[in-house]
Amino acid sequence: MTDKKPDIRSRWYGRRRGKKLRPTRQALIDTLLPQLRLTPDPDGAFLDLKAAFPGPVTVVWLEVGFGAGEHLAEQARRNPDIGFIGCEPFINGIAALLSRVDEDGLSNVRLYDEDARLLLPALPDAAIDKAFVLFSDPWPKKKHHRRRFISRPILDELARVMADGAELLLASDHMGYVSGILEILAAHGDFSWTARSKKDWTMPPPDWVQTRYEQKALEQDIKPVYLRFTRRPRSS
Ligand SMILES: C[S@@+](CC[C@H](N)C(=O)[O-])C[C@H]1O[C@@H](n2cnc3c(N)ncnc32)[C@H](O)[C@@H]1O
Repeated sequence: MTDKKPDIRSRWYGRRRGKKLRPTRQALIDTLLPQLRLTPDPDGAFLDLKAAFPGPVTVVWLEVGFGAGEHLAEQARRNPDIGFIGCEPFINGIAALLSRVDEDGLSNVRLYDEDARLLLPALPDAAIDKAFVLFSDPWPKKKHHRRRFISRPILDELARVMADGAELLLASDHMGYVSGILEILAAHGDFSWTARSKKDWTMPPPDWVQTRYEQKALEQDIKPVYLRFTRRPRSS
């Protein structure tokens, strides 16, 4: 455990690109992505999230590593008054989400197509009302644990950008990563685990949208774990 700022020297570690995009998807990357992309200020000023969306939004939710975006798009469709920020560097996943955004006419989605660790410092304090990190890469080998997204420096940044009482929703099908997450979060003073009984972590929350990796785990008879934390109120 360390109190350092996120170590972004090696950026993120997954695939940036998969198979060649179909022309329609490539067209969405070329035309729609630039309209929805959030660009942090090179001088370090916070993003103006109210101005980032075309209409007023009540609150802003964040999803890190949205994969193909099925969860993000469905949440955005169900909650048109909420602004959604999705972070994902995998271009094929971004194209899949853009296709949903386009088909469903979702105007409440904004994207960051780079490492989420570079976006967090650009978000204002207490700006996020809910954050999802779903089935983030578990990096099972011990020598790769430092690549795991959920780490002390990331939680410090999340604690800064999340509003008092905001929910942090994590899910994983890798029990080693789950233990690591619980250990780091238990030691972090700014979050409390909301679970009261076993079903609170073995069952998804009521408004849940299944993700692709969750579906893959269930097909292999692996039961995912759902962890809900709240950002403790800042002391006045
Ligand atoms: C195992 S996949 C899960 C995708 C999706 N959440 C799901 O449940 O189907 C993890 C995703 O996180 C993305 N990812 C990994 N590191 C990231 C980072 N630092 N910032 C943003 N996304 C990241 C990867 O590109 C990948 O799409």
